[in-house]
Amino acid sequence: MKHTPQTIYSKKQAGEKIVSLSLYDYPSARIADGAGVDVVMVGDSVGMVLLGHENTLGMTIEHMLYHTAAVVKGVKRALVVADMPIHSYNDPELAFKNAQRLVREAGADAVKLEGGAKIHAQIQRLVTEGISVMGHVGMLPQSVGDGKYRVYGKDPSEAEMILEDAKLLDRMGAFAIVLECVPSKLAAEITQAVRCPTIGIGAGPATDGQVLVFQDLLGIRSGVSPRFVRRYTNLEEIMKKAAVNYCRDVQKKKFPSKKESFS
Ligand code: KIV
Repeated sequence: MKHTPQTIYSKKQAGEKIVSLSLYDYPSARIADGAGVDVVMVGDSVGMVLLGHENTLGMTIEHMLYHTAAVVKGVKRALVVADMPIHSYNDPELAFKNAQRLVREAGADAVKLEGGAKIHAQIQRLVTEGISVMGHVGMLPQSVGDGKYRVYGKDPSEAEMILEDAKLLDRMGAFAIVLECVPSKLAAEITQAVRCPTIGIGAGPATDGQVLVFQDLLGIRSGVSPRFVRRYTNLEEIMKKAAVNYCRDVQKKKFPSKKESFS
């Protein structure tokens, strides 16, 4: 059965963990969906992971429409949540217009926005219009930009702000909240304080669900991987070996064979 925001919300009461992956294309969506992932997030991290950008600041609504539509085609059961990129929700009207495009044109089931009190009018508008909203607090890549990717909420006043933002999102009707790069203790406190499920990335074990970028767990992301990533395989090495073998076969005239050619 296809997940809805409501079935994801109910998992918290049922004590069932929510499994989520951030991914951006049809084959990845098909594989993750078949593996039993509950929520696929079409993250604006696509800019860094697939498009080679330094950060997520160059992403536009057109990028997100394109990738969301591809992911939707690969999914039968998982809930599809599309990230609203920077500047696509600068005011409530713009937020509504762009969220509606992600839902109607690309087929997303819900949208995700970064922030709490600062964007409360935008979230209110979307919820009032019947668009399902996932919140995102803690480290907010769209606000951090090129600055420090660090753990947020170690400082008591910062922790208080994150907790208050999460509570506000919960009250406004977000069906789930991503907690990114926050101390485990704060994530546990937030998870206790809100009715909706929390989905952590770098937020420890107490959240109601976990999300990772698919390429990170597959081991195909260049550079140093963050401490919270668990690599389940080293696909980069496997892909490279296959490409090296292909190069060798073509150069040594071993590919294509007769069997691989038409008479
Ligand atoms: O952009 C992204 O991929 C995300 C998830 C990691 C939560 O926001």
